[in-house]
Formats: sequence, C-alpha cells, structure tokens
Amino acid sequence: MATKKTCCKKAGCCKKAASVAEEKQPTKNAKLLAWVEEYRKLCQPDRVYWCDGSKKEWKTICEEMVQNGQFIKLTSKNRKDCYLARSHESDVARVEGRTYISSKQKVEAGPTNNWEDPVALKETLRGLYKGCMKGRTMYVIPFAMGPLGNPITKLGVEITDSPYVVVNMEIMTRVGKSVLKEIDKGEYFVPCLHSVGAPLKKGQKDVAWPCAPMDKKYIVQFPEDGEIWSFGSGYGGNALLGKKCFALRIASTLARREGWMAEHMLILKLTSPEGKVHYMTAAFPSACGKTNLAMMLPRLEGWKLETVGDDIAWIKPGKDGRLYAINPENGFFGVAPGTSKNSNPNALDSCNKNTIFTNVVLTDDGDVWWEDMGIDAPEHGIDWRGNDCWRAADRADKMVPVKGATYAEYKGKYVAAHKNSRFTAPAVNCPVLDKDGFDGLFNGEPVGVPVDAMLFGGRRPSTIPLVNQAKDWTHGVFMGAAAGSEITAAVISDKIGQVRRDPMAMLPFCGYNMGDYFMHWLTMALRTDATKLPKIFFVNWFRKDADGNFMWPGYGDNSRVLKWICERIEGKVDAVDTPIGLLPRPEDIDLTNCEVSKETLAELLKVDTEGWKKELAGLEEDWAAKENFYGRLPYALKAKLNEIKDALEAK
Ligand code: GTP
Ligand code: SPV
Ligand code: MN
Repeated sequence: MATKKTCCKKAGCCKKAASVAEEKQPTKNAKLLAWVEEYRKLCQPDRVYWCDGSKKEWKTICEEMVQNGQFIKLTSKNRKDCYLARSHESDVARVEGRTYISSKQKVEAGPTNNWEDPVALKETLRGLYKGCMKGRTMYVIPFAMGPLGNPITKLGVEITDSPYVVVNMEIMTRVGKSVLKEIDKGEYFVPCLHSVGAPLKKGQKDVAWPCAPMDKKYIVQFPEDGEIWSFGSGYGGNALLGKKCFALRIASTLARREGWMAEHMLILKLTSPEGKVHYMTAAFPSACGKTNLAMMLPRLEGWKLETVGDDIAWIKPGKDGRLYAINPENGFFGVAPGTSKNSNPNALDSCNKNTIFTNVVLTDDGDVWWEDMGIDAPEHGIDWRGNDCWRAADRADKMVPVKGATYAEYKGKYVAAHKNSRFTAPAVNCPVLDKDGFDGLFNGEPVGVPVDAMLFGGRRPSTIPLVNQAKDWTHGVFMGAAAGSEITAAVISDKIGQVRRDPMAMLPFCGYNMGDYFMHWLTMALRTDATKLPKIFFVNWFRKDADGNFMWPGYGDNSRVLKWICERIEGKVDAVDTPIGLLPRPEDIDLTNCEVSKETLAELLKVDTEGWKKELAGLEEDWAAKENFYGRLPYALKAKLNEIKDALEAK
C-alpha cells in the first residue's frame, strides 16, 4: 500500500496527501484498510480523513462548512451550536425510484424493490465512482448501530465525500475510536460507500449542496455481499447510510438469516398511574407520526410516556422467550413541519442545541421557522430555496414569497419550509428519553427492552378503525402485511397523497422479497415463547369526515388509545369480537377532557363492512399484480384473507 506522508492531523489541511498515510491510520484491520484503499484509488479524493467522533471534530467540520457557505450558523440563543443547510432542489428526500436491492437473483429482491444484476450494477457504479471525489476530502466514519457492548448492536464504516453526512452521522449514530477498537478485534462491519457525485476541477468553487442529477443517483444495497453503494444524493436516508440502507435494508437480510427482526418502528415506554410499565413498538410509514408518538405528551392524567427510539427497532428473542428491542440510532432525523409546542413539545425541545436543520426557514434573528410550528411566522425570512419570504397579509401563521401578498393567493402552491425539511437532533437532548432503554438496558442487563405490544398504522382517511386488536400472531402479521398509507413528502414522488400498500411500513426498506419477509414474521412465533409474544394492534389517527377534517384529535390524545391497549394487555377489559379483529367497546376509550363526541367515537370504532370488502379486494388485486411476491406469499396470509372475507360476507 502506498504510504505518502500527510502533513498534519487537521481536516482539510493536507492538500496533497494522495494516500492513506500509515501512521495516520487509526486501525490495523486489514479488511478495513484494504477497503478504504480500494475506494481511495477509485474515487481519487485529494485527501483522506479518519473521523474520531469527538465534539471538537463535529464543531470544526461544522465551522468549516460555514466558511464554505454550506452551513449557516444559527445565532439565536435558543439554538446553541445549531446550523442550517439548504439542499439542492432535486435532492430533498429519499429517491425510491433510484433505490435498488441488487441480489444475485431478481426473485430474492421481489416485486417491491428495483433490481439489477449486481455484477452489471457494480460496473456501472464503478464508472461513476471513478474520480468522483476529485477536489474533495474522503472521510472515513466508523460507527455503531446500537449501544456498544449490546449483543444486538452492529458496526459499520461509511466512506463519504460529504462533510454534511459526517456531521449528521455523528448525531445519528455512535461514531468513534471505540468502534474502531471493536473492528480491530475482528468484529463484523458493514462497508458503506457514499459520494455526492460532484467532483471539483482544479480551482473550481464548490456549491452549497453538491449532488448528481436524478438519473445518476443510485442507492444500492448488495444483500449477499452485505455492502451499500450510494451515489449522487446527499439527503437523509439516501446518504446517512447507517439509517435506512444499513439498519433496515441490509439489517433485514441479516435478521432473516440470524433469526431476529429489523423494523421501521418507534419504541416507547409507557407507565400507567399505578406504575405498571409497558414497552411498545409501532410501525407507521414515513412522515406518519412515529416521532410524534415516540415522544408524545399524554393528555391523560397520571400517564407517563418515555422515548426509546423514533424510527428503527432491532428486535431479538431473549432467553426467556420474549422479544426484546433496541434502538440502533443515536439521534432523531425528524420531520420539521407540523412539529409544535402543541403537537410535539419534546421534539421541539430536542432541537435547542447541537442540532442541524435542513430546508427550513431562516429568520432575521438567526432562528428557524416552519409551517405549523405553532408560532407566528416571522415578518421576514429566507425560505428553503434561499429566497426572501414574508408573513402573509391575511394569516399570521403563513409565509408568502411576495411582500404584501395574501396566503389565499398561494395556498397549496408555496411552502417556506420544504414539506420534508428535517432536524437532526441528538437523542440525549430529548427531555423524555428513557435513558436505560436507549442504552439497551433492561433491569441493568444489555438485552434491550421487552416488547409487550406492536402497533401498525398509516394514513387512512376511511374504513380503517381508530384501533383494532389482532386475534392472534398470524392475524397480526396479516394486519401488518395489509397495511396501506397515503404517500408523503418523505419520498420524491408524483403520487403524494395517494394510498399505496406499505406492508409493516417497510415497502421502501425491506432488503429482500416481501413474501419471504412475511414468512419471517410468521415464523418468529416459532422462535419465541408463543404465550409471551407481543399483542398486535392496528391504529389509524387519520380518519377524515365528509368535509375532509380529521375526526380524531391525535397527538397527545392518542394516549387514550394506548391506555386501552395497556388494559387489553393486562386483561382488564373485554373487546368486541368482529370479523376484522377485536375492537374496543366505545365506553372503554377514556374520553375525559376530550372534545370527541360519542357519535364520532362510535363512527371511528365501527366495522365498515362494505369498505372492508373493498379493502380486501384491493389487497388481493395488489398481491395478484405482484404475482404473489413471485410465488413467495405465505399461504397462511391468503387463508387469513379468505377467512375475514367469509366472515364479512356472513355478517
Ligand atoms: P419518518 O421520520 O419519515 O419515518 O416519519 P415519522 O413517522 O417519524 O413521522 P413524524 O412523526 O415526523 O410525522 C409527522 C407528520 O405526521 C406530521 O405531518 C404530523 O402533523 C403528522 N402526525 C403525527 N401524529 C399525528 C396524529 O396523531 N394525528 C394527525 N392528524 N397527524 C399526525
Ligand atoms: C423515512 O423516510 O422514513 C425517514 C427519513 O425516516 S429518511 O432517513 O430520509 O429516510
Ligand atoms: Mn423513517
């Protein structure tokens, strides 16, 4: 290996260091060194920098980005060590159309994933990576998904030419020397290669958000090699490779092999007024309320909710036959718009320091603003595109791009903060973090938290009741498999608002054939003590009335539903046995100090027989269109569908 000397240890200092200098390599792991060297040669960065994950490093890189015009430092006293980034217009969310599961055979990726042959795709990508980091620094980020020392935790190393990715990864994952120590001991790690795909010519000035055009973006998982290759995007799940690419797509394939689960789920701890503790996980699709529920402030007196995780759960059978969960992440990459003192005060408080905001509004006093933040719009601000905007003439809570204009003129056409603008905040900032659970501890043991209930959900304006308990595990798996939701701005799509099937909220994140994934779910019952399996519930906070208004207040009022779930787990209340599942008796939903009328609640809890018949027909159609997941759909789920259909017919 080449060992040309670098001149010092500071990021961005060594102009001519053409190789990884041996004395600067903080690892002796031959596999890691060879991997870094291979891609240094291919990508041809000006220099290589190994991240140590220190606070000093984070701040140094952030300040360098301010110097380069890629970050704006927020000066408001409410935002200590906070920064704002604005992305390129084309790079504002996940790109499902450019995301691939590149297994050797198409059938292994299944009909819900884009697929290309791995040999061909690697060749295409090598062509793109060639020289792609010219003029840039190659950062090497050793990270852990999960607390070090926890048996569920796994390691990764991301190579990237984006300092934005470095400082976000340093919030979202556990980065540093202690991870390298584990890798040096020979621990398995997932290699994650990333480039924004925008090399700089000699002397060329960088732009604020470098990225490649859409047709050159590739987010690729190679499940058989356990590798991730991402090119051309710098945003969120496309680029912070520990998150969706590793902790969901690759991890789901490892989990299948090793007998555990990698899920798009929040994890929460709920304590009743009597002091009974229950841990729950919930799978809702992107921008459908995981962060909200994960740190919700209950509107029922005496109930206490604490956060373990807001996006991803890794779940493993424990020695006692129960399922235990950890949050593999270290921070929140949360949707900004809609986050307010009312809807999610704990998320708002999590963003008071050491937070990176992307694509929100910059106010004149060095603070941030977004739509539905619950405070008046500033008189003037800079919108996510970097243009001036002003408070609307007719609405104090909206901004418009033309001074003196009314919101009425722009309604629906203009938002000052992008709909998928996000905050990246350290989990330790969360005022209701369950520190033990977050550290993967239960009764002092590093096993994760025991899961009592699993929830599925989505945005469904009709048919789907407020809450519905599965009759058994297979029924619960069916419920998850049948889940659907309106598409949100978390993905770049021309179909936002349309309902699509999103099984277990994993449609964009399952690293293998979804039919096999259903089978894996079903067989978890055989890997555990079936009497101790979590109870499964389907919830829907998003029912709308004829005028298009939400029928359920949601947010803190969702504690009313969680209370019923606890009472079901504890066997305290009976439920109504219906063809679609076990529904609450309306009188069992606690409506103390709640504006919802008895009639509305009854509507939210009734079985819409005709709606359900259509729902099931739609599901069958979807399965048929997907060729029953290339023949991999478990028969048990078809049988369950028929059973419910027959029961509805008989009703
Ligand atoms: P990802 O981070 O994309 O995986 O999504 P998430 O599920 O964590 O999304 P998040 O909690 O940030 O969802 C935010 C969106 O859901 C905002 O538009 C909220 O207004 C809306 N939301 C969350 N909870 C509720 C609720 O109980 N009722 C209603 N009506 N909307 C809700
Ligand atoms: C999601 O889309 O589900 C997210 C945001 O959590 S991203 O990390 O960009 O995928
Ligand atoms: Mn998510």
